Amino acid sequence: MPTLPLLFLSLGLGLARAQQDESQVPAQPGFHPKQVEGFWYTRQLGSTDRSVIEEGGSYRCYMSSIRVLDNGNVNVTYFHRQNGRCVEDFYMGEPTGSPGRYTFQYEGLNYLTFVAVGDDFVVIDLENHKDSGQLIVAELHSRTPLASELGQQAYDGHTHRRGIQPGDIVDLTADPARCSASSP
Ligand SMILES: *[C@@H]1O[C@H](CO)[C@@H](O)[C@H](O)[C@H]1NC(C)=O
Repeated sequence: MPTLPLLFLSLGLGLARAQQDESQVPAQPGFHPKQVEGFWYTRQLGSTDRSVIEEGGSYRCYMSSIRVLDNGNVNVTYFHRQNGRCVEDFYMGEPTGSPGRYTFQYEGLNYLTFVAVGDDFVVIDLENHKDSGQLIVAELHSRTPLASELGQQAYDGHTHRRGIQPGDIVDLTADPARCSASSP
């Protein structure tokens, strides 16, 4: 019975990591990493814990680009404010073996899912797991500062499905403190 040890192994990993319930977060069908490569403009952030996306919150970020590395990792570059200044940083999403899904460590374990990908937009779901509980951050990014109607529809549908209230979504397009490659 060669399959038994593997079964036990995966059960053990599942318990240790408190796996994500993927049924709540379907990835974009036919996802290919090349679709999300390049420059991005962050439009909206929503969360089950509003404090993390408010000014000074740990998920208040302006994604600037995604690069796909040879090993399959995605290098996600973003700006955030630190002591009033825009600082560039990046994190490395590691593929999970399931297309459109990555993990990375940041204040616990994060599951990153590319939920919807269009020509000019992407909807990203981040699910953070740590001992004190879970939180969800849903992000809408576009290729240009111009609004994307399809992107907005996909984002609204996704935040609704994830139980994120309209009042817990911030629009960063009008943020006077927004960071970009050219901000001070
Ligand atoms: C990730 O991207 C940033 C800038 O876009 C770069 O500075 C950094 O070296 C990259 N990291 C890796 C490991 O490729």
